Amino acid sequence: MSIISKVYDILKDIEDPVTKEKLVNLGLIRDVSVENGVLSLKLIASTEKELENFEKEIRERLKTIEEIKDIVIQKEMKKIEPPKLKREPKRGAGKRKVEGVKHVIAVASGKGGVGKSTVAANLALALESLGYKVGLFDGDIYGPSIAKMFGIEGLAPRVENEKMIPIERFGIKILSMGLLLDEQTPVIWRGPLVHKAYEQFFFDANWQGLDFLIVDFPPGTGDAQISASQLVDMSGGIAVTTPQDVSLADVRRAINMFIKMGIKILGVVENMSFFICPNCGHKTYIFGEGGAKKLELEMGVPVIGEIPVDPDVSTSGDLGMPVLLSRPDSPATQAFKNIAEEIIKKLEA
Ligand SMILES: Nc1ncnc2c1ncn2[C@@H]1O[C@H](COP(=O)(O)OP(=O)(O)O)[C@@H](O)[C@H]1O
Ligand SMILES: [Mg+2]
Repeated sequence: MSIISKVYDILKDIEDPVTKEKLVNLGLIRDVSVENGVLSLKLIASTEKELENFEKEIRERLKTIEEIKDIVIQKEMKKIEPPKLKREPKRGAGKRKVEGVKHVIAVASGKGGVGKSTVAANLALALESLGYKVGLFDGDIYGPSIAKMFGIEGLAPRVENEKMIPIERFGIKILSMGLLLDEQTPVIWRGPLVHKAYEQFFFDANWQGLDFLIVDFPPGTGDAQISASQLVDMSGGIAVTTPQDVSLADVRRAINMFIKMGIKILGVVENMSFFICPNCGHKTYIFGEGGAKKLELEMGVPVIGEIPVDPDVSTSGDLGMPVLLSRPDSPATQAFKNIAEEIIKKLEA
């Protein structure tokens, strides 16, 4: 376990005696980093006395970590806002259930290229492998890629009784904006058009009999997300990120978007977290360890999975059979299965 993970495990249980909330969930511990045995963090509290007490407790608890030689705490006195994430999600109002679907799960990211579609596709297959009935809607108007990942490019969905019939592949029912577009045409969608298209994909399609409908959103926080959150009663969302700092800043925005839209956050998935050497099995955190954990600490959003960088993940996607099927024994596959189990736990809680 890395130092930062140890620090995290220790700090996450410290409670504010007044509100009984964890300090990390209140966003009172921030900017945690460890360098050459020196741990620095920022501590926020409402009064001098609280700052003092929290500091004492933090120092006391961190004594158990041998690697830490010194602790630098930057203190800030500030009135504490009520925790954002505890707000009851606005569910229901104006939103409809997708007929025949138990849970609609959103997969979002602050920016493109972090592996959102890869996560959506393999998560769908992981849930299927656990025995659930799963659908996958590729709602990425700017770069739909699910059809390619499942090898169903160029297939058009049938229409029966005025409903689109999803294309079934590897046990997953799939519809994609991409099935209606040709790959060469760049799409310029305006807000109302996106809204209309989303409405059709959710309500004029036959998604009957599904436990889960996974929605792969476009990156960012645009019209598609707004439309979907106004139209559909979703059970929760997951945000995908990579460990670099820029990407974390982006995922913060995605998380804030979920909060604003009243979508319950199931967690953050950190993709391309580490590399496992195929020869010796050594695990390297290429971009530094603990990025998503830092986010967890700052925003109180749980990290529900870390996926290794693995060339098989990308080649499988390109060849039309996601890694979960093409390499069932790989660490990446195991990581996706763990995420599926985490999501089920969260929904049952
Ligand atoms: N864990 C991983 N290891 C190796 N390559 C990956 C991994 N995750 C995604 N990729 C590759 O990175 C590229 C971007 O992934 P994609 O899922 O399309 O991202 P997004 O949907 O966020 O734009 C793809 O070529 C994909 O195969
Ligand atoms: Mg994508």
